[in-house]
Amino acid sequence: MTRHFLRDDDLTPAEQAEVLALAADMKKAPFSHRPLEGPRGVAVIFDKNSTRTRFSFELGVAQLGGHAVVVESRSTQLGRDETLQDTGRVLSRYVDAIVWRTFGQERLEAMAETSTAAIVNALSDEFHPCQVLADLQTIAEHKGKLAGLKLAYLGDGANNMAHSLMLGGVTAGIHVNVAAPDGFTPDPEIVSAARERATETDASVRVVTDPVDAVRGADVVVTDTWTSMGQEADGLDRIAPFLPYQVNSDLLAHASPTVIVLHCLPAHRGEEITDEVMDGKHSVVWDEAENRLHAQKALLTWLLEHQ
Ligand code: CP
Ligand code: NVA
Repeated sequence: MTRHFLRDDDLTPAEQAEVLALAADMKKAPFSHRPLEGPRGVAVIFDKNSTRTRFSFELGVAQLGGHAVVVESRSTQLGRDETLQDTGRVLSRYVDAIVWRTFGQERLEAMAETSTAAIVNALSDEFHPCQVLADLQTIAEHKGKLAGLKLAYLGDGANNMAHSLMLGGVTAGIHVNVAAPDGFTPDPEIVSAARERATETDASVRVVTDPVDAVRGADVVVTDTWTSMGQEADGLDRIAPFLPYQVNSDLLAHASPTVIVLHCLPAHRGEEITDEVMDGKHSVVWDEAENRLHAQKALLTWLLEHQ
């Protein structure tokens, strides 16, 4: 059975820990692992813009000894409606993994129906699990552990980062608080899945509207854009309801004195995060961006070992 990584809970807690341990090893010795020697192929497909995901996957595959074919989907026959199932069958004849940034999660699931290559979700409307692996690596580096930590996510609770932080966070044993305004709270089915996973790891998930309540005593504070890709013209006010959730120094004063601040980037400085916090002593956003490379190399290596 082909193992895919479509959402964070596709890895068990033990498997996620294996990937994160491998990511830490790879960071120490970036050119020592060559599982894609050949070169074996990896397809990297974008339906949406990207800087970090694009660079980190293309370079990561090269560092593993493989070759990444990186394309914008509209330049392929996907842009002329070749079916996802047929595309999955064809690409599986060329590559060992298909890394895909797309819109609805159901598109990834459709390609996974026929793909014998491992499909990796490089961001969908619902989840951003590669980002959260990098986030967990970053948190472990700065805090020395994951289980038992308290993480607060502020802002759009219905977006991919909120969902993946809940699922991936509790998988690592982290207590996850999400603070979001009414109308922007997480998908209840994903909250349920995260709570179920949390029973295995002694973690927890809380969804609240009060940002101070979420942040109080937090070891880790995370935010993300208030307008995700594809939501630019959804007709919703994506500024005013979110203003109380801005990660600024006043809000951070309620967190642990040793709090670290993460943002997957790109940041909208002055909206979800201030310059003072982004560039301040609690920010680990540049380590977080770097760790995309190491975490994804580890994920690809792990997936190919488990096909
Ligand atoms: N964080 C992240 O996925 O960045 P890109 O959109 O630049 O890939
Ligand atoms: N939530 C953001 C993440 C960008 C990396 C988006 O989907 O646009």
